[in-house]
Amino acid sequence: MPGPFSGLSVKIIATIIVVILAVEIVIYLPSAANFRQSWLNDRLRVGVVAARVLDAVPDAMNLPRMLTDRLLTSAGALAIVYRREGQSQLIELENVTMPREAVTVDLRQRDPASLILGALETLVLGSNRTLRIVGEEDGMPDRVIEVLMPEAPLRRELLLYSRNLFFLSLILAIITSAVLYVFVSRILIAPIRRLTGNMVEFSEAPENAALIVTPSDRRDEIGIMERELAAMESDIYSMLRQRRHLADLGLAVAKINHDLRNTLTSAQLLSDQVANLDDPKVQRLAPRLVLSIDKAIGFAQSVLDYGRQSATPPRPVPVDLHLLLDEAAFDAGLVGHPSIRWTNHVPDAVSISADPDQFARIFDNLLKNAREALEAVGGKVEAPQVEVTLAETPDWLTLSVTDNGPGLPPRARENLFVAFEGSAKAGGTGLGLAIARELTEAHGGKLSFVDQPLGTRFDVTLPRSIRIA
Ligand SMILES: Nc1ncnc2c1ncn2[C@@H]1O[C@H](COP(=O)(O)OP(=O)(O)O)[C@@H](O)[C@H]1O
Ligand SMILES: [Mg+2]
Repeated sequence: MPGPFSGLSVKIIATIIVVILAVEIVIYLPSAANFRQSWLNDRLRVGVVAARVLDAVPDAMNLPRMLTDRLLTSAGALAIVYRREGQSQLIELENVTMPREAVTVDLRQRDPASLILGALETLVLGSNRTLRIVGEEDGMPDRVIEVLMPEAPLRRELLLYSRNLFFLSLILAIITSAVLYVFVSRILIAPIRRLTGNMVEFSEAPENAALIVTPSDRRDEIGIMERELAAMESDIYSMLRQRRHLADLGLAVAKINHDLRNTLTSAQLLSDQVANLDDPKVQRLAPRLVLSIDKAIGFAQSVLDYGRQSATPPRPVPVDLHLLLDEAAFDAGLVGHPSIRWTNHVPDAVSISADPDQFARIFDNLLKNAREALEAVGGKVEAPQVEVTLAETPDWLTLSVTDNGPGLPPRARENLFVAFEGSAKAGGTGLGLAIARELTEAHGGKLSFVDQPLGTRFDVTLPRSIRIA
């Protein structure tokens, strides 16, 4: 869990401060330029006052020294020049050596870029320069005033102004981010932290229903998140519980089934002996008894197989395909069948890499279904037959099991491949196709039902790489 000063909150505070400072810099540049411009204007205005005085007296050259010096020092100026109608007048401080060069600042130029540039220059270069401030008397472009003065005082005041502004913005940034932080953390971070904490806790113990988050009644995105998380967690909770129940049930069924099969096996021994008795009544009933018990044992056995087979992954070895299919047909009762013709079209000497038991069981189930379907319709099908063919593409190897029986009944179609559901015949488990499908998939292939007008066809499609010769 991130602490209070890591993760999201720190990112938010840092971002807010950086953004505010960036905004402050953008604001600072023009305001520093403005500060410098008005400072320079003030000086110029003193120059204008001095010029008016010069204008008023007939003989400016002979003004008392004391007066001109006071005029100049009050403006912080070294000298003032006043030009009008082609003539100019100059007053300057006494006993001061005039600097040899000066930087001209023309206050008549007012474009923002050069104002900002001027302010930056003052800050960087302004400690030793002398300025020649040039401007005009208000609204009279033909009367030009020049004030000569050192730049250092301007720089000092501009620095002071900048420092104050900097501290002010810093305080502003801190206050703003603090306020925003409190706001954001109460509205966003705290609920997010609650949700992440809950997710971590729940994922550690998803079977504990007490850990499912209780959503608040917020209507925003956080509220949606809370409600969705709560729904998801309760889904996971019930799914887990259901799975555990199913696993328990499966275990119980397997146990019962196991005992049942053993009991039935002893009953089978008994019924075999009973069948050998000479009593004609017994002779009449015994075959049905034997048949029912056989069926029950088959049922118990296939349920046991289903539970067992999914547990072991296939162990592939080289297998001769033609031979394997013939053996499966034998197990399915097709080889030597009195009425059904079995044809194995797979060529000799095709070898694949497969688990022989599991692979044979796929076809055992498919072929047995075909035989049972054909037997069920009895003599209604002319020349009943079951065949298997092999087709190859560069990527796939397809084995098709086809019969000319009655076709899949609708009930079987609806639950095709679903264990315990797919059976459409008395005494069927509905496991055959489910097992065949699972085993095909375990070999990297897929089992599909191919709809056709007559009979039934199932395709076992396997990756081409399974073939080794
Ligand atoms: N070749 C086939 N011809 C007609 N119906 C078939 C064929 N194969 C399967 N079925 C139908 O599909 C159902 C499901 O088969 P399966 O999963 O093997 O279960 P089960 O054989 O125990 O009933 C069967 O009950 C049968 O109705
Ligand atoms: Mg079957």
